[in-house]
Amino acid sequence: MPQQQPTEVVIAPETIQRRVKELAREISRDLAGQEPVLLGVLKGCFIFLSDLARQITIPAQVDFVRLSSYGHGDTSSGRVEMTKAPELNLSGRPVVVVEDIVDTGLSLAWLKEHLLHYQPADIKICVLVDKAERRQIELNLDYVGFKVPKGFLVGYGLDFNESYRCLPGIYELRTH
Ligand code: IMP
Ligand code: MG
Repeated sequence: MPQQQPTEVVIAPETIQRRVKELAREISRDLAGQEPVLLGVLKGCFIFLSDLARQITIPAQVDFVRLSSYGHGDTSSGRVEMTKAPELNLSGRPVVVVEDIVDTGLSLAWLKEHLLHYQPADIKICVLVDKAERRQIELNLDYVGFKVPKGFLVGYGLDFNESYRCLPGIYELRTH
């Protein structure tokens, strides 16, 4: 059993659903007439991507990557590796990277650069939660669900040591 319990609800399930619908509407409008690849970053994206994909009203395909970053504890170091590559051919395709949360920005900045090798037509980034105050690198985010100043968040795909991903809302994990 996990030792710490998430206490404070930061984003309620209904609030998330409303915002996901708005993001899907924006993406569908911006990419109308195209068939983007929704490229989820495992594992954290799994719930967000499945809700988002079902609200998008244009044709879309789905693929996944997995990254590992060598950080200490809950901070990433920027030394990133792709442990699962995309399986679809991204060449000439519009790609929407779907990520649960961006903190320092180092993982996504690395991914965006790395994806250029696949020669996509365009790369957009869609994140559910943006911890903007913690950014260490300039990174343009095209779609942002929520801005949250700080704190370690769990639920709706976000984990702490693999726990709490299945919670329907987003909660702050208090460690004291
Ligand atoms: P970044 O490279 O610092 O932006 O790290 C982003 C990654 O760290 C995310 O994809 C998450 O996997 C993880 N992460 C950062 N903040 C949190 C959090 O508050 N809760 C859970 N995971 C987090
Ligand atoms: Mg992640």
